[in-house]
Amino acid sequence: MRWILCCLLYICLAWAKEHLPDYAPGLDTVTHVYVTNVTYMDADTSRQEEEYSRLQHRLQRSTGKWDSSHPRHRLLTALHGYHRYRERNLVETKKWRDWYKKAPKRQRSMVESAVKYTRKLNAVDHLLETNERLAHDIVEYGLRFYNVSRAELEAFIKENEKQGVNTDRTSVSQAMKHFVRDWSSDGLDERQEGFPCVLGTLGNMSRTAAQPLRVLVPGAGLGRLVYEIDALGGFDVTMNEWSAYMNLAHRYMTSLSGVNSVSFHPYIDWWSHHATTADMQRSVSFPDRLTTPSVLSVEGDFTTAFAGDGGYDVIVTFFFIDTARNLVSYLETIHRLLRPGGKWINLGPLLYGSAPFLQLSLDEIIMLSEQIGFRFEDTDASCGVTTVPGMKARGLEVSYGRNGQGLSKNAYQAQFWVAARA
Ligand SMILES: C[S@@+](CC[C@H](N)C(=O)[O-])C[C@H]1O[C@@H](n2cnc3c(N)ncnc32)[C@H](O)[C@@H]1O
Repeated sequence: MRWILCCLLYICLAWAKEHLPDYAPGLDTVTHVYVTNVTYMDADTSRQEEEYSRLQHRLQRSTGKWDSSHPRHRLLTALHGYHRYRERNLVETKKWRDWYKKAPKRQRSMVESAVKYTRKLNAVDHLLETNERLAHDIVEYGLRFYNVSRAELEAFIKENEKQGVNTDRTSVSQAMKHFVRDWSSDGLDERQEGFPCVLGTLGNMSRTAAQPLRVLVPGAGLGRLVYEIDALGGFDVTMNEWSAYMNLAHRYMTSLSGVNSVSFHPYIDWWSHHATTADMQRSVSFPDRLTTPSVLSVEGDFTTAFAGDGGYDVIVTFFFIDTARNLVSYLETIHRLLRPGGKWINLGPLLYGSAPFLQLSLDEIIMLSEQIGFRFEDTDASCGVTTVPGMKARGLEVSYGRNGQGLSKNAYQAQFWVAARA
């Protein structure tokens, strides 16, 4: 819309220059300003504005059926979750206090004198206040960004709590922990395990700045991989994410203007696998780099958010395909959204969630994908060893959401492949 207005203005100015001699002095300068503006807005802003107005439309209560799966309902639910961050976590520490009281008094005295366990519980309660400030800032930015009034959120919370609806502590915590995975120097090792094969494959693709390749990354979480793809240059990148918890955290990320300007304590809500209490209570700063406005974020379910034939040159699924309720729908959607000859790059595990329609092994996924119309391609041996002889998928050890200083080192044999839409 603004682009059209700018064009109209430009035409009017050109007409004025032609027909109104008195107006001519200084007009060149004015005209030049608007031409520059048109070019800039066309590249970044107008794409963002169009998607924002589509998002606002989807968020209207009158769009679709109003129930718990309505986008606005899911957004308000997530805002409620962040809003109650501290209260929900204080319930947990109270539980640990109550369990501790069950230990005999003599043992507690010994524990107190040796390690001051009550002080540790108090410290965690105190550090929750720092995390609460971050959760609060996410809510504040979310209200502004999504254009939701405080009164609406308060009414939603009041109604929910009247009905005894509990907030989802785990979803809030997981989204906030992605600040570490994606946007802190603590997450660097993890990113360096998984990103190079994807970025290397993309980096080798022939492209120009004038004719960028269109890339879609569904289930992008907080989007670091997406911004790294964007930084390669020559790509027109779209990320997609369904979770309102993740989208709120990502939108907040995009509002930050200072490197490492935010700190929080990501590990205080999980008491296992700590070498020292200081490790558990340490703070992590983010973002270690800033986001760029050129990335487009399309919120919603990957299988329905993109109408028709997307014509994408590349779709990157990174720790994503196993989140499917219906894996066949994911595969068909990837196929539908790629242009003929377009590439599907995958890296991730096969950790199926709750209630999937089907749970396929790697060989079955490859056979089914070929049936749908993908041709698997040779990939570089640096991206792991072939997992199933005769099939073009490679296994690469990659961790996910790991506490780098923790005592647990869970990692997946993530599967990497590149397939072309036949
Ligand atoms: C395991 S996480 C990985 C996130 C990110 N790719 C990363 O590696 O950090 C999977 C993500 O997919 C999202 N997701 C699940 N189902 C989705 C769907 N149908 N459409 C879009 N995103 C979805 C989840 O909300 C979650 O953020």
